[in-house]
Amino acid sequence: MIFYPLMLFIMRLDKFVCKSTELTKIEAIQHIHLGEVSVNGEMARDEATQVHENNTIMLNGARLKTRDFRYILMHKPAGTICSNIDEAYPSLFNYLVVDKASELHIAGRLDADTTGLVLITDDGRWSFNITSPIRQCRKVYRVELSRVLTIEQAESIATRFKNGVQLQGEEGLTRPAKLEVISSNEVLLTITEGKFHQVKRMFSAVGNRVVLLHREQIGEVRLDVEVGQWRYLTESEALSFSQ
Ligand code: URA
Repeated sequence: MIFYPLMLFIMRLDKFVCKSTELTKIEAIQHIHLGEVSVNGEMARDEATQVHENNTIMLNGARLKTRDFRYILMHKPAGTICSNIDEAYPSLFNYLVVDKASELHIAGRLDADTTGLVLITDDGRWSFNITSPIRQCRKVYRVELSRVLTIEQAESIATRFKNGVQLQGEEGLTRPAKLEVISSNEVLLTITEGKFHQVKRMFSAVGNRVVLLHREQIGEVRLDVEVGQWRYLTESEALSFSQ
């Protein structure tokens, strides 16, 4: 297990109490309301108080320390699902043998047939930085298309993606996306949001169809392990999503 000693995580007091004890959220809030929790020597009765691990947080006179968060990169195989449990397909977590795997979640799901880079964590604030369109975190997909593209068609699609396309059932256009041509039926697409089936729907909106989809990169983190393998992120990789 990798530790991330320099990362300063700000979180709500009730979350801090949960993360550093066996208490549920409701129990943590009860202890806070009863005045049993102090932050830097002051009683804190508001569960929404923002705290971090450099604060001295006590519960009934005992200092609480948070567990370290985990940040994991995995190469998702085709035919697995981004869920903690097996459903129609086996869960990707079958490949991840770590303690308390049920506490982990996936920061940006992929479809069952999509392969590639998946980031997994137990830090909700960190995954928000990856998945929220507000944060505009880049995701790079390698896409194989059913219909070959001429240079003119590729240029026209690149312009449409740059300007945003209308996906059925969505309010507003997609955010500006970048198309790079690899060959007549293979492209790289960079997007900064993660609508349901977004890449497949974007190509469908321009009259093509995705045959193979593979995520190569999220932010500055590139996929560098074999299919089905995983590793912990380095400290600087994990920190790159916390700024
Ligand atoms: N877009 C899709 O259509 N599918 C994925 O799995 C990821 C992005």
